[in-house]
Amino acid sequence: MDSITLSSLSLFAATPEQIFESRRRTYAEWSGGLSLEEYLARDEFTDKQEVACEGRLITWVLAPRSNPTSLDFLCSCETFRRDGLVCSKANAKPKRVICYAIASVFTPLRFRADVSLLPAISPREWGAPPHRVAHAGDGLFSALWSDVGAEFYRRCGPTKDSDGWITRAPFSTIWDVKQESSSIDTSGWTLLDETGVMKLWEDDAENISRTLSPADNFQVSFSYLPHKGVAAFQHWRTTDILNKRGYAPIHHWGIIRDSNTFATWTFDIQSSAKTLLITRLKSSPENMKTLLAILMSVARKHGMERIEVYNLPDHLQSSAAHLGGLTVERDDHLPSFKWYGEEHSSEIAWLMNER
Ligand SMILES: CC(C)(COP(=O)(O)OP(=O)(O)OC[C@H]1O[C@@H](n2cnc3c(N)ncnc32)[C@H](O)[C@@H]1OP(=O)(O)O)[C@@H](O)C(=O)NCCC(=O)NCCS
Repeated sequence: MDSITLSSLSLFAATPEQIFESRRRTYAEWSGGLSLEEYLARDEFTDKQEVACEGRLITWVLAPRSNPTSLDFLCSCETFRRDGLVCSKANAKPKRVICYAIASVFTPLRFRADVSLLPAISPREWGAPPHRVAHAGDGLFSALWSDVGAEFYRRCGPTKDSDGWITRAPFSTIWDVKQESSSIDTSGWTLLDETGVMKLWEDDAENISRTLSPADNFQVSFSYLPHKGVAAFQHWRTTDILNKRGYAPIHHWGIIRDSNTFATWTFDIQSSAKTLLITRLKSSPENMKTLLAILMSVARKHGMERIEVYNLPDHLQSSAAHLGGLTVERDDHLPSFKWYGEEHSSEIAWLMNER
């Protein structure tokens, strides 16, 4: 790596062989107890889901310009193209935009430090821009959930002095699952099976597109939309792991009362405490008590130890605390965004910054 310069490298959409190599490499980091075959099979399954199809998922490699198809590429990552919305005080009607989520950033040990030490003082060091790739580009923002702290990605801007991905609101509200059940009146509430949650996320995306309103004190607000496989991704991943671990089939993935009162969830059985992780939540403070009691009974039924939600909206904070929820700042899965518009990141609000 002695003579390597930034301009001798570029980003390329991975060939099928490079995709395989990238997944083989990341297995060491993210196997989660799966065998290599199971891990690769899960990715192949994801490839066919809505979140990835129609060119939404692209694996990228950083490779020598002189040998773009090399299997000895320096690092790789994945991008998922998503639908997003932006609005502002001046243009309050939400506008559809292209945006991205970034995942599986990985550099093999032998290339680490070398890559991050490559100097980029001005865009000149990057050399000619990468070739245009079908289904990529035109994004207004992207986000990732950092497991390597906030600093590393902040420093990944195009030059030394410009911001990379900025961590925003890595908060979780957590309830311990109580073993004793309370009697609750669930009339009017409907548990949702797989088909039901898929429809809910579609309807929800439409609702959000109509009703999103800009945050105070920020020039521009953005949000991801949960449809086109975005929320479903968390669901499919979990189903696969639960099946492999021999969990009894889970029939319910959401609960709804009306279009303003619902929650959907996934199960995280890989972190230190088994968790029912809420993926979408909409409620009034008054409905939180029943909603939480239902979530408790679902969590208890499936042996979960806690219930967690990312960035509970302000208007639900006090009822959540009253119901025993503890809000903490996480040190992993840090939501971090890069804004490609003209505004500075500090002027941008991330709405519905959920899981
Ligand atoms: C993250 C990664 C791509 C960075 O590769 P790189 O650019 O070559 O850089 P390095 O690994 O040398 O780390 C550079 C800096 O990143 C940060 N960093 C890397 N891993 C970190 C971790 N687990 N926790 C916190 N910071 C970390 C540190 O600031 C480090 O600087 P240091 O020299 O002070 O330790 C690489 O470490 C990797 O592939 N790690 C395993 C997979 C992973 O965790 N990916 C990120 C998922 S969000």
